[in-house]
Amino acid sequence: MSKVAVLGYGTVGSGVVEVLDVNSAEVEESAGEKIELKYILDLRDFPGDKHQDQVVHDIEVILNDPEIDVICETMGGLEPAFTFEKRALEKGISVCTSNKELVAAHGPELVRIAKEHNCSFLFEASVGGGIPILRTLNTSLRHEKIDSITGILNGTTNYILTKMDKDKIGFATVLKEAQDKGYAERKPEADIEGYDACRKTAILASLLSGQYVSYEDIETEGITKITQQDFAYAKSLGMSIKLLGMIKKNNSGFFTMVSPFLIPLENPLALVNEVFNAIVVHGNMLGNTMYYGKGAGKEATASAVVADLIDIIVHKKSHIDVNLNDIPAELSDNGNYVHRFFVRVDESTEDEARELFGSNIEIVESSEVFGEFAFVTDLISEKDFKTKYTKLSKAKAFLREL
Ligand code: NDP
Ligand code: HSE
Repeated sequence: MSKVAVLGYGTVGSGVVEVLDVNSAEVEESAGEKIELKYILDLRDFPGDKHQDQVVHDIEVILNDPEIDVICETMGGLEPAFTFEKRALEKGISVCTSNKELVAAHGPELVRIAKEHNCSFLFEASVGGGIPILRTLNTSLRHEKIDSITGILNGTTNYILTKMDKDKIGFATVLKEAQDKGYAERKPEADIEGYDACRKTAILASLLSGQYVSYEDIETEGITKITQQDFAYAKSLGMSIKLLGMIKKNNSGFFTMVSPFLIPLENPLALVNEVFNAIVVHGNMLGNTMYYGKGAGKEATASAVVADLIDIIVHKKSHIDVNLNDIPAELSDNGNYVHRFFVRVDESTEDEARELFGSNIEIVESSEVFGEFAFVTDLISEKDFKTKYTKLSKAKAFLREL
């Protein structure tokens, strides 16, 4: 029998406890032994809860209990989560977590400490919610030369974009819905400004390279500037708007970016709606594979945490290798990356736009938007596009095309 503690009894933590309760037979069978939930650490009490007697408020109770084999950290934030996890690993207690902010900032250090103390640090739920993408990269695809990963990596923003597009609901209303459903981060700026997708992109890029890609080096843009007018134009173009995390390997390193993209409807990523995430991985032998599932929410995320918990118990008293190292990765200059760009300007500046972007632009019209001139550029590098875009005297918005 193994004994575990869950740190943080919120959306994900209560989900972990629920999975252990509801699927106890399946969990025991996969782990090869019983798993007993010994403690739940939280700031609050939970009177009337089935597990109220397991709730403690002092981490020392858990760290000083020699019976504890694994800690599932689902509190979120950098501190005290980092200190708690570091101390647990130093005592040889394995840790699994859904805390991507922590993994993106301190993952390599925690993996190193786990290795030094012959225990494990796993973080499947930190990317793609319930999608088993990290385990897939670390095991099934480890032999592939992976040259690109493109994904919808944030459930909250995908939920918002879907509802804005399909139901024409306003941004603030639909963000509140996502918060009520337990999808959003404690500070929802992390979702809507793209920081959460950025951290997930950094984790994927780090695993892909076996080096450390700092989230601070990833160019990131969120969805706060997307309007109903953008969706109207997207409809005319036969496209959808999605927030993507993108990693492309080239000879000089990696191109990485988080940004909203226009995606043709025939691309399967365009059909990923609501809280679902999808990640397309391209390997040299395998070609494209796509992984799809709920990217946020209690049960799906908890399922991924429990998968790590089981893996740890199956490999008790040994270290599970996750290919997350602290050698800094080389990122290449995004300026050289080439796309087509969709641009909106005031109609009075059509001539100026044509002069700057040339005769190959494709005009885009929408019966729902007035007073604008909108077009799609030819293929152009990020650097050249930005130089020209800043010369536009009445630019309104732009979006990249996938
Ligand atoms: P919640 O805010 O719902 O839960 C966090 C819980 O931890 C709360 O009960 C909170 O108590 C408690 N807590 C916070 N600080 C401490 C502390 N110092 N000691 C003890 N307990 C503490 O967050 P989520 O469950 O949504 O998220 C948890 C983590 O999982 C985050 O890192 C998040 O990014 C990640 N995640 C979340 C997903 C989701 O869909 N929600 C999906 C994937 C990952 P109190 O409320 O009283 O502050
Ligand atoms: N806030 C995150 C999201 C939770 O919406 O994707 C899952 O990581």
